[in-house]
Amino acid sequence: MKEKIRQLLDEVKSYSPADADQLEQFRIRFMARKGLVGELFDKFKEVAAADRKEMGLLINQLKIAVQEKLDYHKTVFDQTGDVTDETIDLTKPANKVDLGTRHPLSVVRSEMIRIFSRLGFTVKEGPEIEDDWHNFSALNFPPEHPARDMQDTFFIAKNPDIALRTHTSSVQVRVMETTKPPIRAIFPGRVYRNEAISARAHCFFHQIEGLYIDHDVSFADLKQTLLYFACEMFSTETQIRLRPSYFPFTEPSAEMDISCNLCGGKGCGFCKYTGWVEILGCGMVDPNVLENCGIDSKEYTGFAFGIGIERITNLRFQVKDLRMFSENDLRFLKQFEGAF
Ligand code: DAH
Repeated sequence: MKEKIRQLLDEVKSYSPADADQLEQFRIRFMARKGLVGELFDKFKEVAAADRKEMGLLINQLKIAVQEKLDYHKTVFDQTGDVTDETIDLTKPANKVDLGTRHPLSVVRSEMIRIFSRLGFTVKEGPEIEDDWHNFSALNFPPEHPARDMQDTFFIAKNPDIALRTHTSSVQVRVMETTKPPIRAIFPGRVYRNEAISARAHCFFHQIEGLYIDHDVSFADLKQTLLYFACEMFSTETQIRLRPSYFPFTEPSAEMDISCNLCGGKGCGFCKYTGWVEILGCGMVDPNVLENCGIDSKEYTGFAFGIGIERITNLRFQVKDLRMFSENDLRFLKQFEGAF
């Protein structure tokens, strides 16, 4: 019986019908209720236990091969009609191919990557499932820091501490642990937080992290890099403002606002009439973090930043509700057909 199935398999693999009628004969011979495949499945019930595994595999292989042949030739005949069909109209326009559109977040992410690559930043990625060391400890988060709280972080296993990363800063650690400076790279990716889903918050979103480590990197380098980014992303008129802030892994730390690109800084509903909108967090990499990752903090300095991709996309396309990004509503997605 095995030999017979192997013969049938060879036959199916080399089979090529001339027209749709022949294909239908082929279908009936193999797949009809009393066809060859059905017959084999019937006989399979009587196969001895020792032979069952191999036999089952073979019959399934045959069934799949037949189905593939049917699908393939059906598509060909549907598109071209059979070759012998003289009524075929060669002047008919081709069937429309729906190309789909790029997701607005992908459009903006690519644009951001292009801007930073012009400054010599390369792109790296890290895992979405992280351990405590890379997401928190190496980044100088003290053990009692509230971000580790069950309310903020999705833990997969409490011991050992495995969680969905809450930010792309974890990739900084992975890259510093494995790369000798100079390091100039960005890390795009998805991050997760245990937030109630609303128009303004979601349990997952996207960030691009930046890291630059070398001799004599200064805050002025950070500021110039981010100013360049803001002007390229929005317009050459865009102004930036750095407000002092706190992150465990940077010292000093800042949050950066840009002049509202909707009202040009005059004040509007979007910027809550302040003229400014916050777009990122940044700072000089804390020496403790460098040391945690095996980099000599007396020899090297560096800066880091983290930008929310949704935030930039909202500014670019005025998407008012974060949920739109993940609902797969074609009426929304189709609006980005022209964007690339
Ligand atoms: N990881 C921070 C967050 O998710 C953002 C951030 C702030 C990243 C400062 C940085 C940084 O690299 O230097 O809120």
